[in-house]
Amino acid sequence: MESSRLLIEGGRRLTGEITVHGAKNSVLPILAATLLCGGVSSIHNCPGLSDAFAAMRILRSLGCEISREGSTVTVNSADADGDVVSDGLMHEMRSSIVFLGAILGRVGRCQLSFPGGCELGPRPIDLHLEALRRLGVKITEYHGILDCTAGVRPASADITLSLPSVGATENIMLYSALGSGETVIRNAAREPEISDLAGYLIKCGAEISGQGTSTLVINGVPELHGCEYSVMPDRIEAATYMGAAAITNGELMLKGVRPSDMYSCMSVFSEMGCGVYPYDDKIFISARKPISAVRTVRTMPYPGFPTDCQPIVMAVLTKSTGTSVIVENIFENRFMAAPELARMGANIKAEGKVAVIEGVKKLYGAPVRAYDLRAGAALVVAALGAEGQTQISNIHYIDRGYESIETALSEVGANIKRV
Ligand code: UD1
Repeated sequence: MESSRLLIEGGRRLTGEITVHGAKNSVLPILAATLLCGGVSSIHNCPGLSDAFAAMRILRSLGCEISREGSTVTVNSADADGDVVSDGLMHEMRSSIVFLGAILGRVGRCQLSFPGGCELGPRPIDLHLEALRRLGVKITEYHGILDCTAGVRPASADITLSLPSVGATENIMLYSALGSGETVIRNAAREPEISDLAGYLIKCGAEISGQGTSTLVINGVPELHGCEYSVMPDRIEAATYMGAAAITNGELMLKGVRPSDMYSCMSVFSEMGCGVYPYDDKIFISARKPISAVRTVRTMPYPGFPTDCQPIVMAVLTKSTGTSVIVENIFENRFMAAPELARMGANIKAEGKVAVIEGVKKLYGAPVRAYDLRAGAALVVAALGAEGQTQISNIHYIDRGYESIETALSEVGANIKRV
C-alpha cells in the first residue's frame, strides 16, 4: 500500500532549535513493563510514533485501559489478563517480542507469533528463549507460533548472554522483576534504554542493580505498583538532526537531549570537522566547514557507535572531502540506504560488513525509497544536502521512529513537506 511521500527541496542551511522527543527504544519496553505493575502508570515524554501506538494497541488487546494527553500516556493494567498477541499486531511492530517477558511475568502464559526476519536481515530470538527456559519457562514452537508457559522459577539463575542483545536483556529483566528468585544477567546490554527500563521498574518497586554495567542483578518481588515516569530523550533522533545540520553546513541547538549518552556519536561528528558543544541537556552543533572524511566508523554495542546512527553518518559522509570506511558489526543487512544514496549521486561501495564511501562534491535530488526506518532517515538527511528535489516514498518506516520529522525540520529552515 503506497501512502504519503516526503518532498524535500535541498540546499538550505538549517539553523535554529529542535527539541528532541522521548526515545522510541525506551518507550516500547516501558509500555510493555506497565503490564507488570497491575495499576496505573503515567508515562511522560512519550513520543507520538507509529511503533508506540502499536504498543498501545497491544496493551489494549491484553485488557489495559489507555489514555493519552499530549505526550503523557496513562496505562491502567489492573484488569489486564490477556495472554495472546495476535499475528496482525506482531507484524505491525517487530519489537513486540519485548511483550513476551512482560506478559509471561504478568499472567504466566503467552502466545505470540515468531517475529521472523525483517528489513535488517534475520532477527533471531534464540537468546531470549534460551534465557527464559533457564528461568523455568516451557516453550513450544509450532507453525510459527510460540507458546510459552511459566514453570517453577529457580531460586537463582545465572545467565550469560553470548552477545549483549538489547531485546534479550529486556525480556529477562521483565520476566524476572515479578515473583521470587535472583536472576543475574552477565554480558547484559549496557544501552541507556536498558537503564531507563530499569529506572521505571525500580520506581514501580522492582529490585534491580547493575544497570549501565554488563552485569545486572534482578531480585523478584511479589508485586509492583504503578508510578509516574518520564522517558529518556531519543539519542538516535538527536543524532539524525546532527546529521541534518552537518550536511547543510548548518547550526542547530538540540534541546532536551542527554549528551552523556552520545559521546560516540559526538566524536564522529567532531572528526568530520563539526563543532560539537554539549551543555547540560543541550548539544549545539555548528558545521561551517566542509565535511571531512573520517577514519573507520565501527558499529558496536553501547558505549560503541550505535548501528542505528550508521546510515545517518553514511549519508553525511557521501558529501565529505575524502574516503571513509564504515564497518557494520551488529546487523547483517544494514546498508539499505546505499543504493538509494547512489541514485542521488553518492559513491558508495558496500560489501558484507564494509562500506567504502568516496565523498562527492554534490548530491542531486531523485525519487528514492525508504527500505527501513534509519535508512529512511538517512535519505531525509541526504536530501537536505542535495541540489534539487528529492521525493521519498515508503515513509511509514520513518514514522515508526520520528514524530513528524517534517515539522521539526521545517521549523529550522528546511523545505520539506508531506504529500
Ligand atoms: C535493539 C533496538 C534497535 C537497535 C539494536 C542494536 C529496540 C526496539 N531496538 O534491537 O534499534 O538497532 O537494539 O542496538 O530497542 N541476536 C541474536 N539472537 C538473539 C537476539 C539478538 O543473534 O536472540 C543478534 C541480532 O541478530 C543482532 C544482534 O544480536 O545481530 C543485536 O540484536 P539486539 O541487541 O537484540 O537488537 P534488538 O533488541 O532487536
